[in-house]
Amino acid sequence: MSVTCEKNDVEYVLLTEDQIKKRVEEMGRKLSEMYEDKCPIVAAVLKGGSVFFTDLVRSMDCLMFFDFISVSSYGNDVKSSGQIIMRKDFDNDIAGKDLIIVEDIVDSGLTLSYLKDFLYERKAKSVITVALLNKYNCHPKDLNPTMYGFDIEDNFVVGYGLDYAGYYRNLPYVGVLRPEVYS
Ligand code: IMP
Repeated sequence: MSVTCEKNDVEYVLLTEDQIKKRVEEMGRKLSEMYEDKCPIVAAVLKGGSVFFTDLVRSMDCLMFFDFISVSSYGNDVKSSGQIIMRKDFDNDIAGKDLIIVEDIVDSGLTLSYLKDFLYERKAKSVITVALLNKYNCHPKDLNPTMYGFDIEDNFVVGYGLDYAGYYRNLPYVGVLRPEVYS
């Protein structure tokens, strides 16, 4: 299905650029303390986690390696298809390594639970998941990310890496998309 979006399809700004910046810096400082002597692999889940990742790692001052993985379950829809496909695997061998997985948002929690199983099968030494946003009403508590920036309600949001049908990733804030766009 081809989708066309307009620039003014954001109904309201949920998180400003400033709010996001402050929170991401706090998270970066905390992670630096936690991983001071560990040299973790910090892996962004593409494409949604890419903007958050680049700001987060620049707020961290410990040694680290970068990696990028890609999983997909949404296509052009606003609800998960329930089927996770691994589109790009790690470049690094992750056995015995400390991993920090950086995601844009945890919604149903399916992606996160798939990734955790996958990473332990690959014998990672430790895994934590860090998400900018947590849709706390949409998954059981045990699927909350280890660390997250903001709890949000069940609205479809875009910006700061998050998209609808590929649009809006470049917005510097997080906004709620007008429901008419996807209904
Ligand atoms: P989950 O598997 O349902 O937790 O969803 C994970 C992925 O779905 C996220 O990494 C996002 O790419 C996408 N997603 C979930 N909710 C939203 C949203 O509100 N806006 C944009 N993408 C979303």
